[in-house]
Amino acid sequence: MRIEPVPALQGHVAVPGDKSISHRAVLVGSLCEGETRISGFGRSEDTESTIAAMRALGVEVEDHDVDTLTVHGVGLGGLQAPAGPIDCGNAGTLVRLLAGILAGQEGQDFELIGDESLSARPMERISTPLLRMGAGIETTSGRLPLLIRGRPLHAIDYELPVASAQVKSCVLLAGLFADGATTVVEPIPTRDHTERMLEHAGARVTRRPTSVTVEHAEMLRLASVEVPGDISSAAPFLVGAAIVPGSSVTVHGVGLNPRRAGILDVLGRMGARIAIYNRRAIGGEPAGDVEVRASDLVGATIVAEEVPSLIDELPILAVAACHARGETVVRGAGELRAKESDRIEAVVEQLRRIGGHIRGTRDGFRIKGVPARLRGGVVDSYGDHRLAMLGAIAGVASIEGVELRGAEAAAVSFPGFFEVLEQIARGAVHYPPAS
Ligand code: S3P
Repeated sequence: MRIEPVPALQGHVAVPGDKSISHRAVLVGSLCEGETRISGFGRSEDTESTIAAMRALGVEVEDHDVDTLTVHGVGLGGLQAPAGPIDCGNAGTLVRLLAGILAGQEGQDFELIGDESLSARPMERISTPLLRMGAGIETTSGRLPLLIRGRPLHAIDYELPVASAQVKSCVLLAGLFADGATTVVEPIPTRDHTERMLEHAGARVTRRPTSVTVEHAEMLRLASVEVPGDISSAAPFLVGAAIVPGSSVTVHGVGLNPRRAGILDVLGRMGARIAIYNRRAIGGEPAGDVEVRASDLVGATIVAEEVPSLIDELPILAVAACHARGETVVRGAGELRAKESDRIEAVVEQLRRIGGHIRGTRDGFRIKGVPARLRGGVVDSYGDHRLAMLGAIAGVASIEGVELRGAEAAAVSFPGFFEVLEQIARGAVHYPPAS
């Protein structure tokens, strides 16, 4: 795909529902009594994998339209093991969270598999705590396929060795089935969508600044979930608006959970002009309309404590840093190496190809902003959706444009990404449909 430079990005857009919350709504909805109606659902290849997985486990999921569905819950112990393996596709969140749920389905055997990228990602981070809970779980040399035998589980106290919401959520979901109270201690706070949703579903959840406890549950009920827009999907447009001179873009109805919105703090420190309008709650999550206008940016330092709040936005922030005066330093982000690709290697390689002055470190990168714009050239996503969106935004901001290989990977989280980008590149003022 050829991405041409644009004079400015202008307009009002909406983005799909939050991917993390959409996965959780289908998973938790499946464990509920009765129906859960999900609106604002972020439909993408990843969340389709979750729907397919729950259907394979005997849950009826009714599609009303692209962003509305009803999950007919089967109750906490009602999942039915399919004859064959459950394919989690590219979705790390699905495989990690589902493993916690299946570990508690007593007397049934399950096998979880995934695509090439997911099959290369670490799974002992979930098998270790699940084994401590007494689960029957076996990885394949620490990776997929994962074999799970549902068994009675014991409550544990578990301190996360890596700051990971997926691992935390896996243990909390398993904790619903355990005898007693399961506590996860997290040295650095990570996204708390699971805790919020379990509370909403009637589970007994106790939250403290650095830990969360869930008790054994007899019954959950959600009834309805409204999903706010995904700040991770808004991020490419916000960065594009910050760096392409003369731009002004507003993304409506974006989730602004403080444990997710670190990109706004960093862009603010870099000198971006950001305004938030219509602050409101969407589905129990803070949300608002985010406007970004272009300005001259300066480099920033990002440290370990804020990494979980912007982990998926670090690749696109690297594009902003290439357009900022001075140096940007990212530290404490070694987890980037365990994502859909090694995102330290991938970001460094792709940005260098188009004129970025970037160097990878063990746990992050250092970028020297070029005074002008990125030159342009060829960017390859290598199948990683965040890299495809990085290439597109780098392209519209560049001098010569970008030939983007593997652009289709964007559909893993955001199927309509290029259409929205085209709208704001044309300067079309497109208001999202009223919700
Ligand atoms: C997610 C947590 C993060 C994030 C991923 C989604 C979630 O992963 O990178 O895209 O929904 O819980 P880790 O928990 O492994 O850091």
